[in-house]
Amino acid sequence: MIETTQLLILGAVVALGLVLLNGRRHDPREPPMVTHGIPILGHAFGLLFNGVGHWGDQAKKHPDQPIIGLDMLINKFYVITSPELVQAVQRNAKTLSFEPLLLFSAKTIAGITNPKALQILKDKEAGGEGLGARIMHSMTPTLIGKPLDKLNLHMIRLIQPFIEQLSETSTFDLYGWCKDATMAASTEATYGPMNPYADKEIQDAWWIFEENLGMLLPNIWPSVLARKPYYARKKVADAVLKYIQADGHKNASELTDVRFKVTVGAGLSLEDYSLLEVSMLLAFISNTVPAMFWCMFDFFSRPQLLAELREEIEANALKVAEDGTHSIDLSAIREKCPLLLSAFQEVLRYRSISSPTRVVVKDTLLADRYLLKAGNSVSMPSLPLSQRPDVWGESQAVFDERRYMSTGDKKDGRRTGGFMTFGVSPTVCPGRHFASSEILLLAAMVMMRYDLEPVGGVWKEPVKVKTSMVSITGPIKGKFPVTAEPRDKYSGVKWGFHVEEGKGQFPLIIG
Ligand code: HEM
Repeated sequence: MIETTQLLILGAVVALGLVLLNGRRHDPREPPMVTHGIPILGHAFGLLFNGVGHWGDQAKKHPDQPIIGLDMLINKFYVITSPELVQAVQRNAKTLSFEPLLLFSAKTIAGITNPKALQILKDKEAGGEGLGARIMHSMTPTLIGKPLDKLNLHMIRLIQPFIEQLSETSTFDLYGWCKDATMAASTEATYGPMNPYADKEIQDAWWIFEENLGMLLPNIWPSVLARKPYYARKKVADAVLKYIQADGHKNASELTDVRFKVTVGAGLSLEDYSLLEVSMLLAFISNTVPAMFWCMFDFFSRPQLLAELREEIEANALKVAEDGTHSIDLSAIREKCPLLLSAFQEVLRYRSISSPTRVVVKDTLLADRYLLKAGNSVSMPSLPLSQRPDVWGESQAVFDERRYMSTGDKKDGRRTGGFMTFGVSPTVCPGRHFASSEILLLAAMVMMRYDLEPVGGVWKEPVKVKTSMVSITGPIKGKFPVTAEPRDKYSGVKWGFHVEEGKGQFPLIIG
């Protein structure tokens, strides 16, 4: 059934499309356009009902084409299925840019309306001051090295009570538990002791905003046509504003501090900063939660893998202190648990549907052959790319926990199109080491201490939300009830974590 969100988006697409349709012509040097069974609106419907999976479905229908064009009414989407053309996109990073998407997000998702603020945020190529990109880049140094160690230490202290809790709860919703643990640990580690998200009402409002933000995208009279996410966003932004006015950020992580200084230093008001912060949390939470859930699902539903992972962690990453306290060592997970690291990346590969997207800011001749016209978008869907014989061949459809273990072959893991969950350079996730620490430490400790069983006894894959606008790691619909039973082997043992300075970065594959 069509939901209000979908109707609204469709309405906006049609309205804009009718305005833009006139005069848009296909240049014969552009990639071949593919039509849909449903005239005019077919691809727009495809996107609404299948999310970015629609790009992959279309690409699969045209396996002989390395790039195809889809008319989306507002603009054209050029969809790439060849690793060589992904590399060509990477070589043209100046004209095929991620930056315009930051302005789009500031307007629609964050809800910034002040024209002066939008001008400051706009990328330099488009005549703005480039603040959007500066905010993103300012965070990179705070997510590696010492600041990352501090964040990790803080996050670990916050996540442990969630793991302790499991010995007291018999049945719980595994997905909801991943949400609560990630939200608590990520927000307090970054915002500090006055964390605005410590209030459950603010957390709930943020999830309402997250789960309904598709309604905000048309950006037409959102206070009326997208009331639910609009007022939820306002509630959270007001809480962030109060936190800033009470100097909460002065005791926060460097990650929060740098964003505040760069944003407000560039001339944005505290109100606009607060709105941007609400949408920033999407990057921190929306992919981590499903990734954490699927790790638990894929590790616990494979008894052989679970046994091997337990053995590897026990042998290499478990420390027992003189007083008998057992702790999991983050640097050992990183350096001495190759199966865990490989299985983690395989979960991300297997469960994610990503499609890194760039905007064509200037006409670009891709690989000396395909003309990409300014104003359109180019997308690189992970599914058709990784299905090519020259990437993973037949094995792409199989869950292979050893896929990313080194065999000494130079091509190990890092093949163009072989792993795109953390993005395609130069736009790569700067939070990947933090997310990996959070997910792997939590998964390692739960595996050591508990047996998890789904209610009903069968690990049946839950249905994914295909149309999420912000998460590529497979958020699920509804709940996933499980029971947790403490393992006899460690009965009565006290547990902790261990983080050594300077050892927080993982050797992760990027696209
Ligand atoms: C498993 C969890 C995560 C996944 C799969 C993930 C994935 C990604 C991807 C694919 C991009 C690039 C966007 C694109 O090309 O379309 C990205 C960007 C970004 N991510 Fe993550 N992310 C995760 C967790 C995090 C965390 C925990 C943080 C922060 C602590 C974070 C911060 C960011 C930021 C700031 C950007 C924007 C980078 C830029 O514009 O240059 N991410 N992420």
